[in-house]
Amino acid sequence: MTAPAMAAEFDDVAGWTAEAVEGLGPLGRRHAIPAACRGSASPAALAWLAEACELAAGTRLLDVGAGAGGPAAWAAERFGVRPVLLEPMPAACRAAARLFGLPVITADGRRIPLRTASMDAAWCLGVLCTLQDKAALLGEIHRVLKPGSSLGLLVVVARGPRTAPAPAGNHFPTQPELTALLRAAGFEPVERIEHPGGTPRSWSRRAEQVAAIVARRHRAHPAYALAAEQDARFARLFATGQISTRLIHAVSRPATVHVTHGGTMTTPTGDHEFLHEFETEVQAELSMAESSLPQEAAALPPSEWLYDPTDVERDEIGLRDLLGAAEALEEDPRSDGNT
Ligand SMILES: C[S@@+](CC[C@H](N)C(=O)[O-])C[C@H]1O[C@@H](n2cnc3c(N)ncnc32)[C@H](O)[C@@H]1O
Repeated sequence: MTAPAMAAEFDDVAGWTAEAVEGLGPLGRRHAIPAACRGSASPAALAWLAEACELAAGTRLLDVGAGAGGPAAWAAERFGVRPVLLEPMPAACRAAARLFGLPVITADGRRIPLRTASMDAAWCLGVLCTLQDKAALLGEIHRVLKPGSSLGLLVVVARGPRTAPAPAGNHFPTQPELTALLRAAGFEPVERIEHPGGTPRSWSRRAEQVAAIVARRHRAHPAYALAAEQDARFARLFATGQISTRLIHAVSRPATVHVTHGGTMTTPTGDHEFLHEFETEVQAELSMAESSLPQEAAALPPSEWLYDPTDVERDEIGLRDLLGAAEALEEDPRSDGNT
């Protein structure tokens, strides 16, 4: 079930944003794309993803969790792609259709009503942290993509123990968890970056002008307060470095890797390079969790905790499981590429 705060953020605010843009008349055409980018996608981030995915005129691009359609409309305008938007929130779907006249499917990304291998590329921007079952979403995207196609992701990842509440309904993966999820779903991560560059003032000014109209009209609405609290929680976590944004380019391949929470893992043969890289990443996350000394924090009264030590201990257990699974697999003679 969708948390009320997420419905406020993704549905009510998306609808209000479209209304505000339309209210600007012909002037609003320049505002529509910046205002309708409702993840943290900036033009620099979108350009990086578009180039990484080699988008071109006519590319059939599926945007999963498309929100009010800003990123897909940007890709259509700048690269001539033919986007198909998929979004579960009805008001966001209506906003995207009204603002940009693009085809929008109202559906959940875990059950995409499209044919297998029917799309040339996919984007999924700011979506993965908003659902728990990330594997199902990635699996469906993999199914509808042609083998060898590109997936562009914008993901908010956890960088260490959290000391402030997460926005309701959000579950931030760590980078190693994300890499494992991608590979398990049949994607080969190709490249990732953390800071794609700044947002020009001209872009943020247009987004802020629309946000100011929405605030003036809807400030008193309970959904506005819920969405504002979500934004404030995100801002606190970003400001303290507890979460950060990653842009990832991955390519769909036919074989799959399976990682289970019990710590068993299978992979296509001959992939020691990946396993080594993966182990290094998990080890780095584990060292970071260990260095925050959760046992010492637990000995203090809760009023003095800077973070919840049980969160860190849970993370440590999960990371040790992953590390054990990767090490076991690396030692497995069946994974040496000769079978
Ligand atoms: C932070 S917004 C980003 C919207 C858009 N991608 C953008 O960058 O402007 C996250 C979006 O993911 C959508 N979403 C959440 N769960 C989803 C699911 N299971 N399948 C598809 N989309 C989902 C939300 O409704 C919301 O529109």
